Amino acid sequence: MKKIIAAISILFLLVLTFSFSSESLRSIYSKPPEQWPKPFVDDGVEWTELGILPLSPIEEHKDSLYQIIELGKTLFFDTRLSSSGKISCATCHQPALNWTDGKEKSIGHNGAINKRNSPTIANSWFYKKLFWDGRAKDLQDQAFAPINSESEMNSEMHDLVMKLRKIDGYRQLFKKAFGSEMINPEMLTKAIATFEKTIVSQKSRFDDFLEGDKKALTNSEIRGLHLFRTKARCMNCHHGALFTDNQFHNIGFSGNDAGYFFVSHQDVDSGKFKTPSLRDVMKTGPWMHDGKQTNMEELINLFSDASMEGNKSDMIKPIRLTTKEKKDLVAFLHAISASATRVQEPIFPE
Ligand code: HEC
Ligand code: HEC
Repeated sequence: MKKIIAAISILFLLVLTFSFSSESLRSIYSKPPEQWPKPFVDDGVEWTELGILPLSPIEEHKDSLYQIIELGKTLFFDTRLSSSGKISCATCHQPALNWTDGKEKSIGHNGAINKRNSPTIANSWFYKKLFWDGRAKDLQDQAFAPINSESEMNSEMHDLVMKLRKIDGYRQLFKKAFGSEMINPEMLTKAIATFEKTIVSQKSRFDDFLEGDKKALTNSEIRGLHLFRTKARCMNCHHGALFTDNQFHNIGFSGNDAGYFFVSHQDVDSGKFKTPSLRDVMKTGPWMHDGKQTNMEELINLFSDASMEGNKSDMIKPIRLTTKEKKDLVAFLHAISASATRVQEPIFPE
């Protein structure tokens, strides 16, 4: 009998300490982010705290840019931008799939398989360089690439502009947007880029939590938030309100893709890729530049058991998470993933 009582009281104590420790993490993280524990970030890393989803800078100009945004949206969804007439930007960046295509590698013109995975374009206004390897300097510059690419839309920009000039409705739309029926490549890419700047994530439960709804996160998610900022070391690269440092790193997943080396031509940059935002990440799989990761627990394992070999970033260290910690970390990634935005397809001009 004594043994049973002892066992019960030990159990009781255990339950008490466990619930107490997650309760206290909850109260710590219920304070403003300035008062959160210091993150585990290496010396020299210029980090910023995680935070509420920011507005796109275009938000305050949306009214004055309305016609350009509408034109850009129409172009984004129009398959006539491809030589086959079958592929639009939205083929590989589908609103219902959080602006991805859900495939390992995108399939473009004539079934051509792309070299890399299609990233979400939500919040892409924030990136200082576009593409996994940073080869485009901004969204307007980026938009030229898929139109011309043989493995994507396979159009010749010059021919495309001629094709659009023959469509009455497009001449009107360009006139409304830019004051002239003269369609040129700059206007076309400018309109697409302007539309893209309006594409942002929806608010996640993490945002609700930061805005004061302290029930928005479960205990497991709060433990995941704490791990993300501390033991798991994710904050070294995925920091700020959009969970990206806008930098390029080799984290050991490069395969035979030289990544940022193609842009900088510096050996040290071989195998580096842009740190992607982690907003909506649970909805944008498969993951990584090569789309090879299909299971988030396994992806976390790769970080947890990382070896220090190769020319990987010094910031990648084996972090040896327990099974429970891995679950908590994935739970947190769910908490920063919002549902897809519903988008009404435009009416295509004739
Ligand atoms: C055949 C599929 C396909 C089509 C069509 C396509 N894309 Fe992409 N998109 C991709 C892939 C794959 C990548 C990543 C390529 C890389 O990084 O090397 C990408 C990357 C991007 C990025 C960079 C995002 C980032 O985080 O850096 C933007 C923006 C983008 N596409 C917009 C567009 C626009 C605008 C169009 C239409 C003009 C378009 N895409 C058409 C597959 C496609
Ligand atoms: C040294 C910087 C660095 C650290 C530390 C880091 N990441 Fe990343 N992360 C990256 C880069 C760079 C990529 C893209 C790599 C690629 O595609 O090959 C990436 C990709 C990812 C992806 C795939 C996202 C997508 O859209 O495909 C996930 C998920 C992810 N990281 C989560 C984490 C988590 C969780 C941690 C902490 C355990 C972490 N990262 C730590 C730099 C980092």
